Amino acid sequence: MKVLVTGGAGYIGTHCLVELMQAGIEPVVLDNLSNADPSALARVEQITGQAPIFIEGDIRDHRVLELTFQAHRPQAVLHLAGLKAVGESVEKPLEYYDNNIAGTLQLLHTMREYQCRQIVFSSSATVYGDPQTLPIPESAPIGGTTNPYGTSKYMIERILSDWAHADPQAQVIALRYFNPVGAHPSGLIGEDPKGLPNNLMPFIQKVAVGELEQLSVFGDDYDTIDGTGVRDYLHVVDLAKGHLAAIQRMLRESDTGFEAINLGTGNGISVLQMVNAFERASDQTVAYQIAPRRPGDIAACYADASCALDKLNWRAELDLTQMCQDAWRWQQFIAGK
Ligand code: NAD
Ligand code: UFG
Repeated sequence: MKVLVTGGAGYIGTHCLVELMQAGIEPVVLDNLSNADPSALARVEQITGQAPIFIEGDIRDHRVLELTFQAHRPQAVLHLAGLKAVGESVEKPLEYYDNNIAGTLQLLHTMREYQCRQIVFSSSATVYGDPQTLPIPESAPIGGTTNPYGTSKYMIERILSDWAHADPQAQVIALRYFNPVGAHPSGLIGEDPKGLPNNLMPFIQKVAVGELEQLSVFGDDYDTIDGTGVRDYLHVVDLAKGHLAAIQRMLRESDTGFEAINLGTGNGISVLQMVNAFERASDQTVAYQIAPRRPGDIAACYADASCALDKLNWRAELDLTQMCQDAWRWQQFIAGK
């Protein structure tokens, strides 16, 4: 059985490929390589012993989508392709809306043409904006987004929900990821951001390996355990297993309609707690300074993860130490390349 994985050459995509292939599902990767390197797919082959089918192309290109659906007739789609840098999205809103929203519309048109009605979408906890309740349940209000990236995720959820409403056979699961971190325990795949990392964990990794001098901790006066921002970090392998669980549920059960499901651990971790955990796991010092708050940041964000357990029989299994150890192994691999 084939599943189309858009954005499958990226950070989360490659981890999903490993889980799908190890479960006997044949992924078909469609990726324009705008934020990925094909060598990551070769390393997926090293892990799984099989090469994933790969088509280099853009989800906004109707012809490429047609050729892909004609040749492979995927039964379902894991839709991960998208641009994801919050700051860049503020600078380039049209590019973000075009890539993420117009791309999703092209994909849905082609799915409809080829009677493919099952899709799992990479959404984000960012759709909750500044949450009123912690932990955040799926029923919390969404749409209070503060940047075009977040707004594109919110809009795509609405589009998918309307599509599922109009087509009684459509099955949609929007997975709202909290903060994916870490890397595959093999040390062969992980996240390798170009330039200065935007996110906490890749920044810490580069300080620990000596590529960056020090981390700026954005604010120490939030109403949190130690004043620094709190997030729900989850291991990328757990996240990938959540995708497999979502696909398997779709293939097993005929529940139609739109569902949104949080993927997080349910635990809030502060920036300084993360720094400490990384230092212990890597046996390195992570130099840091306290800096002003980052505009648009919220104090705390962590999931009510009970729906994923109820609906997907999924829960995060890997702890903070494993996230840091695997991230460190991967960082050493890329530093040595
Ligand atoms: P990534 O950039 O590593 O992967 C995205 C992949 O999509 C890349 O390989 C890129 O080349 C590809 N791509 C982008 N636009 C495309 C297009 N128009 N056509 C074909 N391919 C295209 O990012 P990731 O961290 O693996 O994220 C995957 C998805 O998960 C994204 O949709 C992202 O918004 C979402 N998400 C990520 C996080 C996170 O913290 N990493 C959190 C929440 C949601
Ligand atoms: N932080 C620092 N210094 C840094 C980077 C981050 O102190 O150099 C702090 C932030 O202020 C925040 C925490 O570390 O308190 C986490 O920041 P990240 O940038 O790693 O993650 P965010 O929660 O801000 O955002 C991420 C993605 C979004 C996504 C969201 C929810 O960047 O795209 O998780 O999934 F929407």
